[in-house]
Amino acid sequence: MPKLHPDLQNKEFWYKDITLIPNQLPDFERDEVDLTTNFTKRIRLKTPFVSAPMDTVTEAKMAILMSLMGGIGVIHYNFLTIDEQIKEVEKVKRFQAGFVFNPVVLSSQNTIRDVYNINEKYGFFSTPITEDGTLNSKLVGIVTRRDVRYRKDMDTKLKDIMTPREKLIAAKKSETVDKNDLHFANEILRKNNLDTLPIVDEKDKVVALVTDSDLKKNMQYPLATKNENKQLKVFIAVESRLGLAKERIGKGYDAGIDGIVIDASVVFKEQLEIAKYCKENFPKLDIVLGNIGSAGMVREIIEAGFDYCDALKVGMGPGAACITQEELGTGRAQASAVWDCVKAAKKLEKKYGFLPIIADGGIRIADTIEQEMTKPGDITKALALGAKTCMMGSLLAGLDESSGEKEFDYEENRMVKKYRGMGSIEAMEKRGALRYGIEKMKIKIPEGKVIKVPYRGSGYDFIPKLIAGVKQSFQKQGFRNIKELQEEADIRPI
Ligand code: XMP
Repeated sequence: MPKLHPDLQNKEFWYKDITLIPNQLPDFERDEVDLTTNFTKRIRLKTPFVSAPMDTVTEAKMAILMSLMGGIGVIHYNFLTIDEQIKEVEKVKRFQAGFVFNPVVLSSQNTIRDVYNINEKYGFFSTPITEDGTLNSKLVGIVTRRDVRYRKDMDTKLKDIMTPREKLIAAKKSETVDKNDLHFANEILRKNNLDTLPIVDEKDKVVALVTDSDLKKNMQYPLATKNENKQLKVFIAVESRLGLAKERIGKGYDAGIDGIVIDASVVFKEQLEIAKYCKENFPKLDIVLGNIGSAGMVREIIEAGFDYCDALKVGMGPGAACITQEELGTGRAQASAVWDCVKAAKKLEKKYGFLPIIADGGIRIADTIEQEMTKPGDITKALALGAKTCMMGSLLAGLDESSGEKEFDYEENRMVKKYRGMGSIEAMEKRGALRYGIEKMKIKIPEGKVIKVPYRGSGYDFIPKLIAGVKQSFQKQGFRNIKELQEEADIRPI
């Protein structure tokens, strides 16, 4: 464990109340710092960032960004029906893949417009054409970006523009998919300078695709969080109500989710039942429980259900849009909550095993737009206190990829994005109240507000800067990785 100054013992403190003392001379470059960490017991991340399951933060675009950058996104349930949430999962899963199984196909009677509609929905153009437009019939051709790129004649039938089967290179399922040999498929793609390589079975039915853009993406984002099939990993949030959660989990599993966050403002006991159900029925899924804020809660969860829980999320009222502490007089200063919970989990590690803690909320954003950066030091502080990852809402809400609305703020004379607390009245008009366990109550006491955060442009520029900021903070203290920081950090009051 790191050193926590005695003046901080048994005190409530926020990230702003502490500093990390540099005690040794660094002898390595900033970018040599390795931020690899555990999101859950099984899932490793190269970047300790998690995007919050909030309706103005994480839908597919944010989840894709986070996963490409080495973190992970949790798709919210607030404003999304189960089917809408699953569609977002599908977009993430289709974004980057080795073998694209169940590819979208069309028939030769479809039109260029249908190809554009697919592009709008999923972001790609390459579409195999089959006899009857389903995967149950033979491959008759393919349409790729090159065929439709500059076309305005939307009603033209695909039979007039597709590359027909006789001119098409396809790989055999027996030589690729059956042997899980993606490398062999990629070689065919590269050698023949193809956009897309369909993979067919012995009856010439399409079973999968391999695409050039996936190859490029694999090279462009070396930190990406991927499964064995090179698809990006993604989690969904589910309600703390067994009936509702069961349906989301089942459908999510079929769509390929990697895990769930059972998301509530405080871990209701029902969460343990949901976690048990999920582990017993879908053992491949990882389960995050949250939120909690004290050692006592950690002990209760570990003793009641260590085997059903793969990570614990700490944060009771520290978020930028939270009003729980002011309204209800309960909650915790985030930095001390993280410290207490990590200590409690560590104490029980010998008996039960390792359980990662996620620090959720309270990572500050810059006060003014001129401070273009945020406060990467808060992330280092959360990690120094023992958290394995940081979940963030407001810090990411200003990016292009967040699901919040962008608008011009005339008072502040700048572009902003809306950031809605899940306990705000606005959010509770949808499913927000479920997170607070008051969906059936007539009187709803809000625990959140709606705020505006500065618009920050593309996350593809912003997140690498944030990563660099965290690494620079590690380097200043002479730590090469999270393990070293968590063993030796020297945490003092300011
Ligand atoms: P930040 O500080 O990153 O916090 O914006 C994100 C986290 O805040 C929590 N959250 C809320 N907590 N009332 C609360 O008490 C709310 O309305 C609310 N909305 C979000 C949530 O844990 C999120 O990950």
